[in-house]
Amino acid sequence: MSSKTGREIAEERRAERIRLLSEKMESFLAAGEGRTSLEIGCGHGHWITSLAENSPNERLIGVDIISRRIRLAETKLSKRKLDHACVFKAEATEALEAWPESVPLDRIFLLHPDPWPKKRHAKNRMTGPLFLERMAEAASQGTELYFRTDDPVFYEWSRENFDAHSAWKVAELPWPHEAGSYFKDMLGVHGAITAVRV
Ligand SMILES: C[S@@+](CC[C@H](N)C(=O)[O-])C[C@H]1O[C@@H](n2cnc3c(N)ncnc32)[C@H](O)[C@@H]1O
Repeated sequence: MSSKTGREIAEERRAERIRLLSEKMESFLAAGEGRTSLEIGCGHGHWITSLAENSPNERLIGVDIISRRIRLAETKLSKRKLDHACVFKAEATEALEAWPESVPLDRIFLLHPDPWPKKRHAKNRMTGPLFLERMAEAASQGTELYFRTDDPVFYEWSRENFDAHSAWKVAELPWPHEAGSYFKDMLGVHGAITAVRV
């Protein structure tokens, strides 16, 4: 019988998922050239597909925790033969840890992440201090971060966190690509925050 605790087993499984994802990312990134982007919470893949169509010389990775959404996104990319973009089913913090150290991450996109309006769920918000820290660890100097939301309260809360975080400097970056996404089309855009890893 194993003497490991449940927590130890969960940590081992997490580490194994990260190792496998990192291998897949590394092999995908090694097959191409050009600027790299990671879309966190890519959902059904509308936006990453459109970005891929407009950026043939870049390498784009999308991740989402929901398998069905990833399957829909994969179908969109493969129908259009957009081999320089790929999507993985992965939890966001695991995807950030898995990003291969050997490849600079040029841009991170966080488009309409869940606002988690209840206070007790605030730890899940992707623009909280811990998540900004995870993104800063995967990033390197000059990495650009693009965030958009339809939610005014979430926007203000996020802006405070960006302003307070020493690794991210809020900067007026032009929005790199306009396209619809499932949630953008449904809810619109309240505001954007763009920042650079310092
Ligand atoms: C509100 S939707 C936005 C989807 C897409 N970006 C759009 O604009 O239509 C948020 C997405 O983030 C994904 N998500 C939530 N938490 C996640 C996590 N911890 N790791 C990866 N994906 C996550 C959800 O499955 C969902 O597809």
